[in-house]
Amino acid sequence: MIADANSGTGTLGALNLGELEDLAVGVLDEAAFHYFAGGAADEITISENAAAYRRLRLVPRVLCAGPNPGTETQILGTAVSSPVGVAPFAYQRVAHPEGELATARACAEAGVLMCLSSLSTQPLEQVVEASGPERRIWFQLYPYKDKAMTADVVARATDAGCRALVVTCDVAVHGRREREFRHDFALPEDCDLPCVPVPEDFAGPVSPTDVTSFMQEGLSWDDIGDFMEMTDLPVVLKGILSPEDAKIATDLGAAGIIVSNHGGRQLDTAIATIEILPEIVDAAGDGVEVLVDGGITRGTDVVKALALGAKGAMLARPITWALAIAGKEGVAEALAMLTSETADALALCGCSTPAEATRELVRSEP
Ligand code: LAC
Repeated sequence: MIADANSGTGTLGALNLGELEDLAVGVLDEAAFHYFAGGAADEITISENAAAYRRLRLVPRVLCAGPNPGTETQILGTAVSSPVGVAPFAYQRVAHPEGELATARACAEAGVLMCLSSLSTQPLEQVVEASGPERRIWFQLYPYKDKAMTADVVARATDAGCRALVVTCDVAVHGRREREFRHDFALPEDCDLPCVPVPEDFAGPVSPTDVTSFMQEGLSWDDIGDFMEMTDLPVVLKGILSPEDAKIATDLGAAGIIVSNHGGRQLDTAIATIEILPEIVDAAGDGVEVLVDGGITRGTDVVKALALGAKGAMLARPITWALAIAGKEGVAEALAMLTSETADALALCGCSTPAEATRELVRSEP
């Protein structure tokens, strides 16, 4: 598969993940494309997430990668074939009829981590089953207004075998997604949300803004303690961009932090994730594993994230495009392509494992 992909003749017909968005435009319904592609307000943070990686330069070491450089690593104790993982993204049956089941099967085949969104369009238990016996799968929680329902879905994710609970912390309000307004995106009638308590009296198609309105408002650090009480799973906080918040998360007992600006979909002009990553890593201390998402499309991006302290590099939009273009095979190919690029970039930096990528490898552009 990867040989085909390297020749651009694979399932996706692309040579790299950066080419996938243009290929997906022709496949997705226009409103759906703009829902997935769009960001908040002027979409400055979307652009900055990627541009910040391009401003970083690698300073490789030579003659030290060893005979078998590889990408295998562990994330929160789970062995994975690659530090590349799939970030939680919503409504995957809008991209492909199999939705989250296809993504989970591709991640199982690739041996990488998947974080399942609360806004899954496939039943949680079936997606976890599809993730394979190693259960390289986390569950992302949007807490509901009804705490009993929140506790129920946390219990379901725990009992199904998810390995961690990811709590999204950066949705105090729904981001100002002007593409969603302009294209009037709403979920297709046949797209259920098995993990979301849509009010029974709610009539008509559900929009992303409606879904946000079903969630708990005014989430606070006190609530994080409540969620930790609901499960024995390690709790990971997603959407942390402030070193001060990283310290609070650590003191509360978070096992992990995902440095994220929600793909630029929440607060526009929020800092690019790769720019703040080192400060979060330093603030979080040694006991907390830090992952990062936003703007990652190249193996060199993954190596920069590793070098600046991330254990995992998560992506959503490129996986969305791959899912839309070619379902499970497309996602598997995209993951294989990025992992292959990451392996090459590590070797060219003189690293035989992801752990050998350290800060001296990265310089900011003069
Ligand atoms: C979004 C929410 C659903 O970014 O996470 O659309």
